[in-house]
Amino acid sequence: MRAASDFLSARAMGVDASGIRKVFDLAAKLKDPINFSIGQPDFDVPEEAKAAAIEAIKAGNNGYTQTQGIADLRGRVRKQLSAEFGRDVGEVLITSAVSGGLLLAIMSTINPGDEALVLDPYFVMYKHLLTLTGGKTVAVDTYPDFAFHADRVEKAITPRTKLLILNSPTNPTGAVMSDADVLAAVEVARTHDLLIVSDEIYEPFLYEGGFLSPGKLYENTVVLRGFSKSHAMTGWRVGYAAGPEAVISQMTKLQQYTFVCSPSPFQVAAVRAMDLPTAAAREVYRKKRDLVYGLLSKKFEVNKPGGAFYIFPKAPKGMTASEFCAKAIENNVLIIPGNVFSEKDTHFRISYATSDEKIKKGCEILCALAG
Ligand SMILES: Cc1ncc(COP(=O)(O)O)c(C=O)c1O
Repeated sequence: MRAASDFLSARAMGVDASGIRKVFDLAAKLKDPINFSIGQPDFDVPEEAKAAAIEAIKAGNNGYTQTQGIADLRGRVRKQLSAEFGRDVGEVLITSAVSGGLLLAIMSTINPGDEALVLDPYFVMYKHLLTLTGGKTVAVDTYPDFAFHADRVEKAITPRTKLLILNSPTNPTGAVMSDADVLAAVEVARTHDLLIVSDEIYEPFLYEGGFLSPGKLYENTVVLRGFSKSHAMTGWRVGYAAGPEAVISQMTKLQQYTFVCSPSPFQVAAVRAMDLPTAAAREVYRKKRDLVYGLLSKKFEVNKPGGAFYIFPKAPKGMTASEFCAKAIENNVLIIPGNVFSEKDTHFRISYATSDEKIKKGCEILCALAG
């Protein structure tokens, strides 16, 4: 008889999640830790959106929807994005949140051996999805400012390069691409004929200035956004993709045979959510950003984040980030070492989507550990 492990695919085994597992194993031993590891807002879904979801369930919106999503939501998203980009963005696809959009975009475009550029540090899912599809992740170092460096990106391009994956505001650094950086990225993509996949999930959490999407400047961009972070609907699984018709239609076909559709009642609720202001939440998070940066910059080398709800300080001298995180966890503060998101193990990620009290207490402990 074969052992169950003999049934496992090379594809599944190729995904190495040991880094984050180690952190969670350590964390499981903690009682009521100061948890700086959570990648979701600490506020709840707005009441109006909850009511809309409940109404939608009661009204019988419980079956499959069209693969591409309900017309109301697609119409609203298309109108809003078209106004922002100054051109009709075409049919949009409602996805099973941004993760769903990422998987479909990568599956629709990557052949085995194709290369995708990601800016290091990167959201960890990109690497794993590329592994699953046989693609190759090419990490372009952005340390120490976490900005877009066109020269470094250019150097990493080969004849197999197909995608440039961008994420601004960024998980894990909170960095935001300046307009000049977006223009430079588009220029590189145009010159080398790359498809940009732009993960804009944190666009509502932007603390300085406006937001420029590469999708506004360059039609060969797949823009991915969603409601998980903006409306705290992480468990509702609603997002959307807009981009070139040829890519979106393949993503739609693949959605039909994988996710089928984003959950029906939550698509209805997302239409309501689009009318709700997100500015108040942004202001609360801006204050948290100021608080955490003010406290940590006294003891750590750290950039001031411009968006999202993460900050990425450098571990104290003489220590890897993993060593510092183990020390922090021993002191009941849960943080994630940079090597989970990066080829380097020099920095650590804090999610400051938590109470001000926990931010103060946790930063006090981390500063004390830094000596
Ligand atoms: C950069 C980035 N992209 C995508 C996602 C996935 O979000 P969703 O809940 O929309 O799938 C996350 C979640 O942490 C993220 O940080």
